[in-house]
Amino acid sequence: MPAYAIIGGQWGDEGKGKVIDYLSRNAHVVARYAGGNNAGHTVLNEQGEFRLHLVPSGVFWPQVTPVIGNGVVVDPNVLLEEMDMLVGRGVDVSRLQVSERAHVIMPYHVKLDLLEEQARGGGALGTTGRGVGPAYVDKAARLGIRVGDLLDDENLPGVLGRALAQKNRLLTRMYDAEPFALADLVATCRAWTERLRPYVASVDVTIALALADGKNVLLEGAQGALLDVDHGTYPFVTSSNPTVGGAIVGLGLNPMALKGVTGIYKAYTTRVGAGPFPTELNDAIGDQIRQRAWEYGTTTGRARRCGWFDAVAARHSATVNGFTSAIVTRLDVLEGITPLKVCVAYQVDGQRTTVFPGADALARAVPVYEELSGWTEPTAGLTRWDGLPRNAQRYVTRLGELIGAPVAVISTGPNRHETIELAKVMG
Ligand code: IMP
Repeated sequence: MPAYAIIGGQWGDEGKGKVIDYLSRNAHVVARYAGGNNAGHTVLNEQGEFRLHLVPSGVFWPQVTPVIGNGVVVDPNVLLEEMDMLVGRGVDVSRLQVSERAHVIMPYHVKLDLLEEQARGGGALGTTGRGVGPAYVDKAARLGIRVGDLLDDENLPGVLGRALAQKNRLLTRMYDAEPFALADLVATCRAWTERLRPYVASVDVTIALALADGKNVLLEGAQGALLDVDHGTYPFVTSSNPTVGGAIVGLGLNPMALKGVTGIYKAYTTRVGAGPFPTELNDAIGDQIRQRAWEYGTTTGRARRCGWFDAVAARHSATVNGFTSAIVTRLDVLEGITPLKVCVAYQVDGQRTTVFPGADALARAVPVYEELSGWTEPTAGLTRWDGLPRNAQRYVTRLGELIGAPVAVISTGPNRHETIELAKVMG
C-alpha cells in the first residue's frame, strides 16, 4: 500500500509542480490534500508551460487519476476555468475527482479576505487574497459549504442561507460593505454544480482502492511547512496544514500506507508575504537571485523575498514531517555566487540556538553562517551527478546533512527532464 508525499520544506514555491509532474510517471493517483488556489504550481513539459492552482500536477500522465482531497478549499470558478484551460490545450481532465467533503470558497470568502487584510493595516499578513483563510474559518466554525452541499439542490438554499445570515451581518456592520443576495449565490452554485457534478467523488474510497491494488499514490503538497498553521511562523502562515498530518487528514489516508515523505527545498530561500525571514538578503545578491530565478509569485505576481538557505528552518521542517529524503531545486540559480552562505544556527537574545523558535523570537534571530565555495561552471539542465561541479556537489551534500535527510533528486531547470535522480523517491 504505497503512498508517497512531496512536501514543501520552506515557505512554499519550492518547485513542487515540476517535481510532481516528473515523478507522476510512476503514479496512479496524484492528490492535492490542503490549501486552495493560493498555490501556483508551474509545470513545463512536452505539452507546454502550465500554471496550475488547483488541478494536481500529475494530470498530464494518462495513467494518473488526479484527485482534489477533502482538505482542499475549492473555488469552483477557478477550478472550472483551469479545467477549461487544460482541455483547450489538449490535456484530458476527464479522470479528475473532487472530494464531496472539500469546502467551497464562496464569493463572500474572497471579499472577506480582502477586507480583513485591509483592516489589519500595517499588520497585514500579505495573503494571496483568494478567500482561503475565511473558507477554513467557516470550515472550523461549521458554517462551511461543502462540494457535496452543492449537489443537494433541495438543502442548498437552507445551508447557504444560514452561512449568509452571519456573513452579511459581518460585511455590513463590521466592514460597511455590500451584502450578498441569497438568490444570486444559489444561482451561482447551481451553475457550478451543472458542470462539477461528474467529477465529485468519495476520494478516500478511490485512494483506499488504489492502495489495496498496490498502486502508487503521490501526495502533492501545496505551500510549505513554514506556512503551516501549527508548525509554521504563526500568525504569518496560511490557514491549513501543508505538513504530513494534513495529508493524512486531507485525504482520509491510512497513515500506515505512507512509505516515503520527501521534503522539497530550493537551494536558497524565498518567502512571499509578510513575516520573519532571518536569512533575507536585502542587497545585490538578493536582487540577483530574484532576477535570475524570476522570483515573482505564480498566483499574485508579487516579488518574492530572497535569502540564503536556512538550515535551522529546513531541519525543523524535516523533523515535523519525518522527511525520509529531500529534493533540492533551482541549484542552477546559484551559479557564479561565491562564497555561498548557509545559516546553521541563530543567535537569539545573545544565545546560540538550532531550535526553530516562534515568530516573535524568529524576528530577532541573527543568522550564524557557514560559508561554502561557489562554482562558475553552468549546471542548468544537467542530468548526471558526475556532471555537477565539485563545489555544487559539496553544497548539495551539505544541505542534505543539515536537513537530516539524504538528497534523492536535484532539479537543474524547469523542464521535466532537467533532473538528476540519485535515489528513488517512489516505489
Ligand atoms: P493565504 O494562504 O492566501 O491566506 O496567505 C497566507 C500567507 O501564505 C501569505 O504570506 C501568502 O503569501 C502565503 N502563501 C499562501 N500560499 C502560498 C504559496 O503557494 N506559495 C507561497 N506563499 C504562499
